Amino acid sequence: MPAMVMDRQIADADLFARAVIEGLGQPQKTIPARYFYDKAGSELFEEITLLPEYYPTRTEIALLRAHAADIARLTGTGRTVVEFGAGSSTKTPLLLSAVRPDCYVPIDISGHFLELSAQAFAEAHADIAVLPITADFTSPVRLPATVSGPLIGFFPGSTIGNFAHSAAVDLLRSFRRTLGSGARLVIGIDLRKNVRLLETAYDDAAGVTARFNLNVLTRINSELGGTIPLDAFAHRAVWHDGLGRIEMHLEAQRDVRFCAAGQEFAMRQGETIHTENSYKYSPEEIRLLARASGWEPMAGWIDPDRLFSIHVWSADIGRIEP
Ligand code: AVJ
Repeated sequence: MPAMVMDRQIADADLFARAVIEGLGQPQKTIPARYFYDKAGSELFEEITLLPEYYPTRTEIALLRAHAADIARLTGTGRTVVEFGAGSSTKTPLLLSAVRPDCYVPIDISGHFLELSAQAFAEAHADIAVLPITADFTSPVRLPATVSGPLIGFFPGSTIGNFAHSAAVDLLRSFRRTLGSGARLVIGIDLRKNVRLLETAYDDAAGVTARFNLNVLTRINSELGGTIPLDAFAHRAVWHDGLGRIEMHLEAQRDVRFCAAGQEFAMRQGETIHTENSYKYSPEEIRLLARASGWEPMAGWIDPDRLFSIHVWSADIGRIEP
């Protein structure tokens, strides 16, 4: 294995270990949601997107199908699309076939995942130049010099929902800096709705979301020498109305002690590890989020059941000022 690849793997394992030690050392134990997505976790997430209870993916795809031409009218064609996160095999082609860019720049933290999907994409779209960038998109990303504006950002899947409000504003401002003036952002955002619908979307009858949540403990056991008894933990999904978010937790079913990342931890029966926040927004909150982040809402679409939304925002806020 080349030295650079080795170094990255050591660095990744080290970051995971540090996140676990820090997160499990807090009064409310936490593990950052990004650690769900190893190979098994990514496969379980794919399975979640097909569940009858999990409405976001299929609703967003339907919205993209219905409004791709409207989106393209607002973004313009023949430009560059910058996607934050590795492309989805369904959503990305839907957007690109309407927007018809000359160049596609997927940005993802997982270089391996990115190379694979970029290669498959390039084979299917010979007419579009593909320039994958391995980077953490939560900081401004320097785009290749050959990429020139106006740029179109694409941030589907309500990934923005994993960020607390203040972090979401920071992230969207950083996108604006990365994309530059004249940019457009096409963003998918999940909506506030009936609590039952929300809670079952995150606690499905087949137990796939439970396996997805518990997989992070499996990862700790196999990658960080953990001794966590998986059967002592149960999946919980709770809507928190004041904060506007679904929280996922792993709840200890009895008192437990275990090792992880070289440290010892103890939990009381009923105590939880908080593993994910998924924020939901009202249309008014979405408008405020755009404005607070330096973006001007141009258009938005909601499905007939008012489950999910897609928006086009413009970076040209000054243009409409007197
Ligand atoms: C990928 C963050 C959009 O919050 O709905 C799905 C992840 N977690 N089921 C979401 C997830 C549990 C998902 N996002």
